[in-house]
Amino acid sequence: MIPLPPGHRLLHLPSVDSTNAEALRRARAGEPEGLVVWADEQVAGRGRQGRRWLGGGDSVAFSLLRRPGVPPQEATRWTLLAGLAVVDALQAAAPELWLKWPNDVLLGRRKAGGILCELDGGAIVVGIGLNLAPPAGGWPQDLVDRAASLPPGVGGREQVIAGVLASFDRLETELLQQGPAPLMARYRRALAPMIGWSVRVDGGAEPWAARVEGVDDSGALVVLDGSGARRTVLAGDVHLLGPAIPEAP
Ligand code: BTN
Repeated sequence: MIPLPPGHRLLHLPSVDSTNAEALRRARAGEPEGLVVWADEQVAGRGRQGRRWLGGGDSVAFSLLRRPGVPPQEATRWTLLAGLAVVDALQAAAPELWLKWPNDVLLGRRKAGGILCELDGGAIVVGIGLNLAPPAGGWPQDLVDRAASLPPGVGGREQVIAGVLASFDRLETELLQQGPAPLMARYRRALAPMIGWSVRVDGGAEPWAARVEGVDDSGALVVLDGSGARRTVLAGDVHLLGPAIPEAP
């Protein structure tokens, strides 16, 4: 039994299409905030940018339903908050954990988890998927250089969920009471390893190369493009290329 922080209700399912989809269905039916949907298996797990999410190996997938009562433009903060809650909860056991913009959970250059936030009316569903161990036969060839699992010290699924929820609650309270400044300072620290890196930005018509400068107050990524112009990236994906400044593509 998970020791959930006060105000949370757990729905533990053996199998579901997607924990985000289930939480959204319940949100539309009027479920109050505090629901946590956890599934042992997702048969149609969703990733960012319309991709599928395959929880490879030993993984944990869960979604939280919040109703913070903020306008949609402020809801982006909950996406950043979710990534920070993961790092905050697990960093003692995995000190090298960091966030790649906007909220990929990375160990070194390999992805150990992902976060997908979806909005519906006033509801925010925060979906979190984390790799706890590699698949029995090791990562498949196409993922071997890209996927990582968290160290055993983070604990089992229940411990991870309870820890992330506790951190989420704490950071959300801080955001609601103190405004976004402390959250953004934490977010910039969590993203610090990618400052100065050259990246490929995917999200517009054509990918383009840039160097990461930082994050603005809205959470958008600030980069210098190949001609040295400063640009902000509001949505999409960035791929780490290396510490060197690239030629324009
Ligand atoms: C990403 O593309 O990096 C985001 C992946 C988010 C996966 C999680 S697993 C729990 C929740 N349910 C889903 O269908 N997706 C999210």
